[in-house]
Amino acid sequence: MRILSGIKPSGTIHIGNYFGMIKPMVASQERGELFCFIANMHSLTTLFDAQRMHEYTDDALLDLLALGIDPDRSVLWVQSDVPEVAELAWYLGNVTPVGLLERCHAYKDAIAKGIPPNNGIFTYPVLMAADILAYQSNLVPVGRDQKQHVEVTRDVAVKFNATYGETFVMPEPEIREELAVIPGVDGQKMSKSYGNTIEIFGDEKAIKKKIMGIVTDAIPVEAPKDPDTSNLFTLYKLFADDGQTAAMRERFLAGGLGYGTVKKELFELIWNHFADARSRRTEFQKNADFLGSIRKKGEEKARAVAAETMKLVRQRVGVSADQAYVSTASALICPPAV
Ligand code: TRP
Repeated sequence: MRILSGIKPSGTIHIGNYFGMIKPMVASQERGELFCFIANMHSLTTLFDAQRMHEYTDDALLDLLALGIDPDRSVLWVQSDVPEVAELAWYLGNVTPVGLLERCHAYKDAIAKGIPPNNGIFTYPVLMAADILAYQSNLVPVGRDQKQHVEVTRDVAVKFNATYGETFVMPEPEIREELAVIPGVDGQKMSKSYGNTIEIFGDEKAIKKKIMGIVTDAIPVEAPKDPDTSNLFTLYKLFADDGQTAAMRERFLAGGLGYGTVKKELFELIWNHFADARSRRTEFQKNADFLGSIRKKGEEKARAVAAETMKLVRQRVGVSADQAYVSTASALICPPAV
């Protein structure tokens, strides 16, 4: 089973990203062949700064490697290193009804937010379909917000297969239900757009400061506290083992526990949780050639698969020089030429 995951590089990753996306992705290496890429071409729809593109892309690669994506076991690459995907997006675009794209929530949200709708934002789902179909993916784990894009991919694949003959594997979306909402330092869901994140690979002092700044209620130290309505306890549980969690629950209920104490212990847990990942990341960063060689290797592995698909696709649509294949399906199903 081939599992495909794309991550848009967006600067520093936080604890919400880790539990919501990266941890499940690392775990999926156990259940199938993981194809995992940095979707830098998707970031181009809203980021217009080459320097930052480079930084974000490198950071995303370092983060994934440090947190457990194994480039020997999985295919880890940068989207733009396989230009076949952009070519495929063109072919797919011609069997994609405009109405399908107009109905996409992400597109409508962008317009509602006043983002000038460039063509990249509009055809974002077509590029995503190309990512998924170029690698003949079986399973695509995504958050709720991306489910519709995988459905568009399926519609486009059906249309292409019907028009030109069987070409693409039909991908299944797998919706990552969030096991728990990860609260940010202000108690709302942790999200970059709310500015309430706790970074994973940040500077020690900065992380400590954020954790010490987590908003709590004003219940006095002596009074008993309800762990189940406490953001601090919710965060604590994510990093503590069962024994630590049970003990902390008791301390909340017993009274006499100050939030400052909990915050210090939470900081220690978080800091230690990522200690190995942090030192791996630092090692990788010291080696100037490391990322380049990882990128090269990923490109070769990913490109071999995409090239195979594209050979067939070019024959199917009738642009290959060898004219080895003439579609029979098209004569029957293709709409009249316009
Ligand atoms: N659009 C996805 C996001 O914003 C990232 C992405 C790009 C992706 N291509 C993909 C995810 C293909 C899954 C499959 O999160």
